[in-house]
Amino acid sequence: MSEKPIVIEVKDLCKTYYMEGGASQVVLKHINFKIYEGEFVAIMGHSGSGKSTLMNTLGCLDRPTSGEYFLAGESVAKRTDKELAIIRGQKIGFVFQNFNLMMKRSIVDNVSMPLIYQGVSENERRERALEMLKIVGLEGYGDRPPSQISGGMQQRVAIARALINHPKIIFADEPTGNLDSITSDEIMNLFTELNKKGITIVLVTHEDDVADYAKRMIKISDGRVEYDGLRKEYHA
Ligand SMILES: Nc1ncnc2c1ncn2[C@@H]1O[C@H](COP(=O)(O)OP(=O)(O)OP(=O)(O)O)[C@@H](O)[C@H]1O
Ligand SMILES: [Mg+2]
Repeated sequence: MSEKPIVIEVKDLCKTYYMEGGASQVVLKHINFKIYEGEFVAIMGHSGSGKSTLMNTLGCLDRPTSGEYFLAGESVAKRTDKELAIIRGQKIGFVFQNFNLMMKRSIVDNVSMPLIYQGVSENERRERALEMLKIVGLEGYGDRPPSQISGGMQQRVAIARALINHPKIIFADEPTGNLDSITSDEIMNLFTELNKKGITIVLVTHEDDVADYAKRMIKISDGRVEYDGLRKEYHA
């Protein structure tokens, strides 16, 4: 079997937060791993272990303090904010625990929002949003506001928005954290389907049954990689 391309590679990645008044906290300590195209990875670890910090760095929302980060072969650790924003727009989709939707706008407006910054026409934005809503199983809901649909459906809207630029990777930070277990399973099945279509999924979760959808698990403990291997071979 030929090896798949590497989509994410971090080398000796460190992150320190510097607070006002001179205090600092070392949060990520010499992290090393590669993620190959098409992988489904769960990042786990206790509260405060550095999962969201790692995710935000991988997602180009933040920069490492030191170390290297290659996204699809390109070095990103030292890029400017503007360059990071462009990389995010082209390569990455984000899904968060709180959905982060505009509750007073239509579902179509929410899903197509990332396209506004790219100067895509209104007609094309609507067309592409409707296409994404079909993929996530929300055909026919486009003209309602998110306030009229359930939490699970709201998370589908957020996933449709994440898909609008056909990203290579989706980063999801506790995407099922606000959902009941049945709805969580539905959302995880949707991620599984997207992964089968070739999208690399990197998911942060506290929950074992959510992590079970992933093939690989990276466990962070106090800012270091404590385990990196098959999820099913992990025994706490
Ligand atoms: N912007 C920031 N400035 C300063 N410290 C921060 C910042 N963000 C996170 N931290 C600190 O870094 C550590 C790791 O936080 P992080 O949010 O990455 O943990 P986490 O593993 O995602 O936790 P949780 O499971 O609770 O979401 C914590 O001690 C946190 O207080
Ligand atoms: Mg977190």
